[in-house]
Amino acid sequence: MTVTVGVAGLWEAEQLADVAAVTFPLACPPGSTRESIDAFVADVLSHERFGDYLSDPGRTILAARENDSVVGYAMLVHGDPADPALAAVVAHSPTMELSKLYVLPGHHGGQVARALMTAALEHASATGCAGVWLGVNQENARAQRFYAKNGFEIVGTKTFTVGTEVHDDYVMERAL
Ligand SMILES: CC(C)(COP(=O)(O)OP(=O)(O)OC[C@H]1O[C@@H](n2cnc3c(N)ncnc32)[C@H](O)[C@@H]1OP(=O)(O)O)[C@@H](O)C(=O)NCCC(=O)NCCS
Repeated sequence: MTVTVGVAGLWEAEQLADVAAVTFPLACPPGSTRESIDAFVADVLSHERFGDYLSDPGRTILAARENDSVVGYAMLVHGDPADPALAAVVAHSPTMELSKLYVLPGHHGGQVARALMTAALEHASATGCAGVWLGVNQENARAQRFYAKNGFEIVGTKTFTVGTEVHDDYVMERAL
């Protein structure tokens, strides 16, 4: 089955939210509670919120599609980090945040994540970025390995709030 990656359209908000609801829990540390994950999915990853993200000129969502189904997505947030603590560890400017990269479990270990990463880096490069940064949970070894394979290095740490829980992330960055 051929998977293609392209910029997502507003009509894909519901499919993206469905993929996000399935894949977000996979990125959380084992001790995360169902309540906190559900609250995050409802607040940040709903159909309506994806509609907002898709309409926001400061963001780009890339969808990986197999036939007409979304099997993974990446979200890029344009602009240098506003948080001074993040700005202090992110070396390259202008930069872009690879805010989310999520692939349905049946497509892990294949070409989908790499195709999304390639498209994300091409997009950042085409818009004049000198680097790309991201946050990844410190217990998410698979994602860290994937990012390291794609040229990212740990440059710092940050926190990430999920419901009532505060999770510890690594900040990773690569030059373009
Ligand atoms: C992160 C993600 C996009 C990566 O895509 P993928 O198709 O799984 O990536 P790959 O298989 O190409 O690479 C993963 C690597 O981690 C390795 N790996 C798998 N499980 C691992 C583990 N528990 N510990 C360490 N490495 C692990 C794999 O062997 C592979 O390395 P290799 O190619 O050297 O063998 C995908 O796993 C995913 O969507 N995960 C759920 C959501 C998520 O965590 N997103 C990231 C949020 S920051």
